[in-house]
Amino acid sequence: MDEPWVAVPSYSAKSHQESLPDRVRRVKADLNDLTTFYNVSISDTRYTRLHSFLLNEIASLESIKFDQLSQQDKVDFVLLRNFLHRQARQLDLERARKDGYAVLVPFASLVISICEDRQRVEPMRPDLTAQKMHQIKLDINQIKDRVREGKAEVDKASALRAVDVVSELREHLAETYRFYASYDPLFDWWVAQPWREVDAALKTYVPLIRYQLAGMNPDVEDEIVGQPIGRDGLLAELAAEMIAYSPEELITIAREQYAWCEEQIKAASRELGFGDRWKRALDYVKRQSVPPGEQTKLVLDLAREGTSFVRQHDLVTVPVLADETYRMFMMTPEDQKVAPFFLGGPSILVSYPTADMPYELKQMVMRGNNRHFSRAVAFHELIPGHRLQMFMAERHNSHRQLFSTPFFVEGWAMYWEMVFWSRGDFFVSAEDRIGSLFWRMHRCARIIFSLNFHLGKMTAPECVDLLVDWVGHERSTAEGEVKRSFNGDWSPLYQCGYMLGALQLFLLRREALEKGLLSEKQFNDAVLKSNMMPIELLRALLLDQELSPDYEAKWRFYDE
Ligand SMILES: *[C@@H]1O[C@H](CO)[C@@H](O)[C@H](O)[C@H]1NC(C)=O
Repeated sequence: MDEPWVAVPSYSAKSHQESLPDRVRRVKADLNDLTTFYNVSISDTRYTRLHSFLLNEIASLESIKFDQLSQQDKVDFVLLRNFLHRQARQLDLERARKDGYAVLVPFASLVISICEDRQRVEPMRPDLTAQKMHQIKLDINQIKDRVREGKAEVDKASALRAVDVVSELREHLAETYRFYASYDPLFDWWVAQPWREVDAALKTYVPLIRYQLAGMNPDVEDEIVGQPIGRDGLLAELAAEMIAYSPEELITIAREQYAWCEEQIKAASRELGFGDRWKRALDYVKRQSVPPGEQTKLVLDLAREGTSFVRQHDLVTVPVLADETYRMFMMTPEDQKVAPFFLGGPSILVSYPTADMPYELKQMVMRGNNRHFSRAVAFHELIPGHRLQMFMAERHNSHRQLFSTPFFVEGWAMYWEMVFWSRGDFFVSAEDRIGSLFWRMHRCARIIFSLNFHLGKMTAPECVDLLVDWVGHERSTAEGEVKRSFNGDWSPLYQCGYMLGALQLFLLRREALEKGLLSEKQFNDAVLKSNMMPIELLRALLLDQELSPDYEAKWRFYDE
């Protein structure tokens, strides 16, 4: 009788080839291990290692016969290739930026050499380490003097980067110190004191750069700082996000969309008896908030309404667990500063004033979280929005979460605002329409202020003014919004993702439905099961369009 494990002759060759989804999973895991091990962000060792990894992966990917792949695999191929090139570009950019602040950190290479010896666990000579520490201290003191005397000038963006670099190097040295200290008696004898001196010197160096070179104001708490990436930076990002429009064209689209919103909001305003003075109508809507203690019930009711609505009209599949297992939490006052409205995803985070907020702030936060604004976004945050999307992303083609992009993530949630609006049976009352339009204007303004900021045409305070003037934001919420945009956690195009991703999805939906390829529910389910990617590739996947290995964006969705 044949041994079953011997008797499968063709088994090895084909099935031992790495599938594209497995390749994506491996690249993600490899990168994670590499960046966790080589975690001194400005080290040349790290740069070289990551660079060679990425180039190897690109070469290996390109040896695959693209034409023989299925459409699903072709999409993974293009996504992965795009991802690898973007990472390589990012790495080059980081390295080039070092030139900008190198004069401020003449001690960096010595610090890095100590920390990387510890990383590889090389034999360590405490006396030599002490000598290096001493030298580092001298170097720090010398550069501090030069900064004080105004002899080390760098531009503001470079100074801000130097602040991060100095703080990070200080952390690495402390970690290295803790690795040896008191395990190795001679280390303590030699290194403890010099390290303490270096640590103290680095600590006081940070505010010196921050206030003297980066021009930050020590008296302003939570000052908004950000670094424009410039037009070149934006173009590279747009190519990576597969958006075939220039920043200027996108600003024009946003202005057109804004003009449409303005017409609609004036119509609603007239219905409420405020004439064309829509900001008065908006103010009236903002005063419709629930009394203290009742916000959680409001949000829960609205969340349930969204789920029932899509179920009742058969718009998208909502698995039982997706609706059953998310939880609600309250947003801390600290978090409300950067996220003034409620947030959702795996759970729902409710914003509402706390007892110890000053009277004026309480009023502002209540107005910002009124009934009608909340109704327009509860479903955006939960179902069919982010909650449903993340639930499905964990379960279908989950490897593609590596390709997460705001154009898909935020685009999907806002797309539902457009779908609900276009049906005409969800936002019916003038108050509810104003609530929805407020957000839509907000997303137009987001494109305008964030692109202008990165083009170097607007400052952060001007961005705040734009949000107040164009959208009717409370000043505190506008400041939170601008802070959130530029504090470095978000990609530069994040704020463009909402409106543009939504427009792309909405137009793709129309195309798919018009061609009679899918029902509305099938379309929405197919989008979620495809998982995350630029919408142009989603279009190629769903409409089975031709792809090439070096595919570039060309879909002029807005012109059609
Ligand atoms: C670098 O990695 C070490 C070891 O895992 C860790 O303790 C340290 O916090 C990391 N440092 C930074 C700045 O990421």
